[in-house]
Amino acid sequence: MIRISAKLRASLFLASLGALLLAALAGPLTAGAAAPASAAATEQPETVCIQCHSALPDKLGAPVNLWRQSIHAENGISCNGCHGGDPKNADDAMNRSRGFLGAPKEADIPAFCGRCHPGVLKDYLASAHGRALGKGGPTCFTCHGNHQVLKASLDLINEKSCTRCHSFERAKTIRAAMQQTEGYIVGIDRRITGFQAIGVDTDRLGKGLFAVRNRFHTLFHDVDVARVRAESAQINTELAKLDRDLKVIEEARAKRKIAGGIAVAFMLLMAALVLLLKKTYD
Ligand code: HEC
Ligand code: HEC
Ligand code: HEC
Ligand code: HEC
Ligand code: HEC
Repeated sequence: MIRISAKLRASLFLASLGALLLAALAGPLTAGAAAPASAAATEQPETVCIQCHSALPDKLGAPVNLWRQSIHAENGISCNGCHGGDPKNADDAMNRSRGFLGAPKEADIPAFCGRCHPGVLKDYLASAHGRALGKGGPTCFTCHGNHQVLKASLDLINEKSCTRCHSFERAKTIRAAMQQTEGYIVGIDRRITGFQAIGVDTDRLGKGLFAVRNRFHTLFHDVDVARVRAESAQINTELAKLDRDLKVIEEARAKRKIAGGIAVAFMLLMAALVLLLKKTYD
């Protein structure tokens, strides 16, 4: 009697081990992969501009710490990237002959920023905002700031920023037209990143999303509600295609995992059975 129950306990133990393994394998199916944390900001070389200005008071020193938190600092665009000048020569750093541009006047800001963002500049100049440049219209600086420029998002369209010159109505319509597509892009991006993290080939999907996302993010500066609506609808159709392709990969992986889990559980059960039989015939 005692011998039998020990064998039974052993086989029950092995069977529950199999079930546990199955659950562990099936777990990630529902949990989904978490997006990896973003990379740390890259280290910036200390230019003479930073060295001297960080020791200066008020308006002359303030830009340094603001800039350190910006997307430009993160991407290696330093003071001289925007203002020109010689970042290696303390005596001649701000000489016009070294390409120093100084601080731009308000009307010159779009061209100043647009050197590196030519697509945005073109859209902006053709828009209601660009046409009102110097006559009460906003410049890049009005919406993005100068030194603490952050990664752009629809959060920039908010009541506080957009009601300085006119009602929020039109801003709200544009935001609503873009919000759904934005959410769609973020979701698909997270799934692709999740697959990349576990080594699934997502090259084609990643490139597809990159192109769609770029097109989407050029929409805003026109501030043309009708165009935003029409293009967002088109972009949503392309995103739906990417969504379907991702589902195909997801389903195939789910099936493989279940099949693998069943195979492992089956092998464990067989091992338990062999053990039981062996003990019985001992
Ligand atoms: C040795 C100290 C020193 C260095 C090096 C230095 N600056 Fe300056 N900077 C100053 C002082 C002082 C002022 C204010 C007086 C002036 O405009 O000359 C100033 C003013 C400025 C202004 C405002 C100019 C305006 O038109 O209002 C900008 C922009 C600027 N610096 C950018 C830079 C950049 C970019 C570099 C590096 C290529 C740099 N600075 C290097 C000391 C320095
Ligand atoms: C993304 C471009 C950009 C970068 C990078 C940048 N600046 Fe500027 N900076 C501007 C613009 C645009 C203005 C003028 C807007 C305004 O009226 O404040 C300006 C104005 C200034 C002024 C004049 C401030 C005033 O209120 O008169 C100083 C000084 C200055 N920058 C220094 C720096 C220093 C030092 C760095 C590096 C730590 C730096 N900037 C990096 C775009 C930039
Ligand atoms: C010397 C080139 C250069 C200049 C001048 C410049 N930028 Fe940039 N900017 C970059 C680079 C590089 C990036 C990071 C890569 C990217 O996202 O495009 C960037 C990123 C940005 C972003 C974030 C884009 C995103 O993907 O969310 C904004 C917003 C921006 N810049 C606005 C400005 C504004 C406003 C000015 C003028 C005050 C300016 N830039 C001047 C090179 C520049
Ligand atoms: C009225 C406010 C406003 C003005 C003026 C403005 N922007 Fe923007 N910008 C935005 C908003 C809002 C977004 C985010 C749109 C989105 O998420 O699709 C954005 C996005 C961007 C981006 C990121 C685009 C991308 O491809 O990811 C860049 C770069 C940029 N702006 C630069 C500029 C420059 C340069 C100027 C001036 C020529 C400018 N902006 C003028 C509000 C503004
Ligand atoms: C510095 C002033 C100023 C700010 C800030 C500003 N706008 Fe405007 N906006 C204007 C002017 C000027 C016009 C053109 C005249 C008009 O239609 O009222 C305009 C027009 C518009 C239009 C109508 C475009 C058209 O073709 O009919 C939209 C939409 C718009 N703005 C959205 C925004 C959004 C979104 C923001 C905030 C991110 C914003 N604006 C911030 C000044 C501003």
